[in-house]
Amino acid sequence: MTSWLFLATESELIKHTKLTLQINDQYIGLYHLDNRYYAVEDACPHAQNFFLLSQGKVVNETVQCPFHNALFHIPSGQCLRQPGRDLIKYEIRVSAGEIHGYL
Ligand code: FES
Repeated sequence: MTSWLFLATESELIKHTKLTLQINDQYIGLYHLDNRYYAVEDACPHAQNFFLLSQGKVVNETVQCPFHNALFHIPSGQCLRQPGRDLIKYEIRVSAGEIHGYL
């Protein structure tokens, strides 16, 4: 069942930073890029979802998996280079300094 859940405060996520979150059984990568927040699934679709993308390098609007270099566009979740599946992207809402995601 999906619902709006608290992810972080804005003060925890200054510009050009990221957080790795575990909410229930899901890993979520929360990114602050150019005045917008994005939440995408954090387990890399390659290698049975074992590695966390938020541990990877962020360049512009992309994150690169540190293990086999899959590349994903954070705002859309689109897979730009292997393994071929896009990331699940979560809707974000910001209110009173709190970031919430629809998970
Ligand atoms: S585990 Fe991410 S590309 Fe292989």
